[in-house]
Amino acid sequence: MAPPCRLLPLAVALTLGLAAGLDAPGEAEELAAGMAAELRAAGLPGDLPELEPECRRLLTAFAEGSAMLSGCLARRARPVRLCQACGGLYRGLLVQYGDIARAVGNSSESHNCAKSILTSDRLQVVVTLSAFFNETWEAANCANCIKNNSEGLSNSTQEFMDLFNKSLTCFEHNLQGQAIDLSPNNYTEVCKNCNGTYKNLNDLYNKLQRLNRHGEESGHSAHLCIDVEDAMNITRKLWSRTFNCSVPCSDTVPVIAVSSFILFLPVVFYLSSFLHSKQKKRILILPKRIQSNASLVNIQEKYS
Ligand SMILES: *[C@@H]1O[C@H](CO)[C@@H](O)[C@H](O)[C@H]1NC(C)=O
Ligand SMILES: *[C@@H]1O[C@H](CO)[C@@H](O)[C@H](O)[C@H]1NC(C)=O
Ligand SMILES: *[C@@H]1O[C@H](CO)[C@@H](O)[C@H](O)[C@H]1NC(C)=O
Ligand SMILES: *[C@@H]1O[C@H](CO)[C@@H](O)[C@H](O)[C@H]1NC(C)=O
Ligand SMILES: *[C@@H]1O[C@H](CO)[C@@H](O)[C@H](O)[C@H]1NC(C)=O
Ligand SMILES: *[C@@H]1O[C@H](CO)[C@@H](O)[C@H](O)[C@H]1NC(C)=O
Ligand SMILES: *[C@@H]1O[C@H](CO)[C@@H](O)[C@H](O)[C@H]1NC(C)=O
Ligand SMILES: *[C@@H]1O[C@H](CO)[C@@H](O)[C@H](O)[C@H]1NC(C)=O
Ligand SMILES: *[C@@H]1O[C@H](CO)[C@@H](O)[C@H](O)[C@H]1NC(C)=O
Repeated sequence: MAPPCRLLPLAVALTLGLAAGLDAPGEAEELAAGMAAELRAAGLPGDLPELEPECRRLLTAFAEGSAMLSGCLARRARPVRLCQACGGLYRGLLVQYGDIARAVGNSSESHNCAKSILTSDRLQVVVTLSAFFNETWEAANCANCIKNNSEGLSNSTQEFMDLFNKSLTCFEHNLQGQAIDLSPNNYTEVCKNCNGTYKNLNDLYNKLQRLNRHGEESGHSAHLCIDVEDAMNITRKLWSRTFNCSVPCSDTVPVIAVSSFILFLPVVFYLSSFLHSKQKKRILILPKRIQSNASLVNIQEKYS
């Protein structure tokens, strides 16, 4: 008795489910897409959901390009090597975006490829992605360390990176035989043997910053590219915080100059007030001659 009673609701549910399934949105869309394809095969115009094959190819290329670029950016996020590693991919994506923006499509207005991909909906994924990559590239300031319109780092950036590599290598050599995590480390050797390399690196960085500030007036940003900034940040922290070496004195010279100037200000003040009061005394002694001088000027003015 029990089995048939339990089977009945199941059968009802199944039939209901099947009936509901026919109305499911997924199947409806498939039907519409199929109809659209049929309509197009029959040569009928209309705002069809399908892209032209050429347009579809452009979109696929952009999709693959942006996947590769975002992969590169994420993999090179730490330590920062964005500009060195992903420049080619970024330029490639710019070309692909440009291709889409220029793709007009060859048939009717409704088939305009650029319009269809870039502006047809509220979300505009392709535009959003392109804008994101542009902003990231801009914020990283990569233009600042990459050669004009071509592969590779600019000369000064290459020089900086070579020095950076040399500094790290020097640190490594002079730390050999010391376990980094043993607390009482003796970094005397590192500080002594790498101070030349470190000083060169620091000087070059300061020079690049100065040059960049000069360019800033002609529309550049105040930051060096993130690869260079991060490399210097890491090295400075290692040098002064981890190794506890002294900072090179090139930075302290202006500080000393300014402090000694301020220290001397009181002396200058008293000296000048002393001289001033002396001058006043002399003026008090000699009022008559000044007056006679003035009358002489008056006479000269009358006769001129
Ligand atoms: C238009 O596009 C179709 C298919 O995409 C292609 O076969 C045809 O040659 C194109 N016509 C022109 C004028 O570009
Ligand atoms: C991204 O930058 C390129 C080149 O500067 C530009 O052509 C493109 O329109 C930008 N993309 C967006 C979405 O603004
Ligand atoms: C980079 O190219 C721009 C024009 O695209 C040019 O004005 C500028 O002088 C170039 N800079 C260098 C360093 O070649
Ligand atoms: C960069 O370096 C290369 C090779 O060392 C050299 O040929 C080129 O002139 C340099 N460019 C600049 C702008 O200094
Ligand atoms: C420095 O550069 C050399 C060769 O270019 C490379 O083999 C080495 O791994 C680099 N060292 C560091 C610490 O990046
Ligand atoms: C560190 O090592 C140097 C020589 O390698 C030695 O002269 C110095 O005394 C050591 N300092 C400490 C605190 O161990
Ligand atoms: C590095 O430090 C050592 C010892 O303190 C010193 O003899 C040497 O002149 C320094 N080198 C540079 C380039 O400052
Ligand atoms: C340098 O490192 C500190 C801490 O790690 C960070 O807060 C700062 O933003 C870094 N500076 C640059 C220019 O990357
Ligand atoms: C760094 O060195 C100074 C003396 O040169 C010392 O007073 C200070 O405690 C050291 N700091 C660290 C974190 O080792």
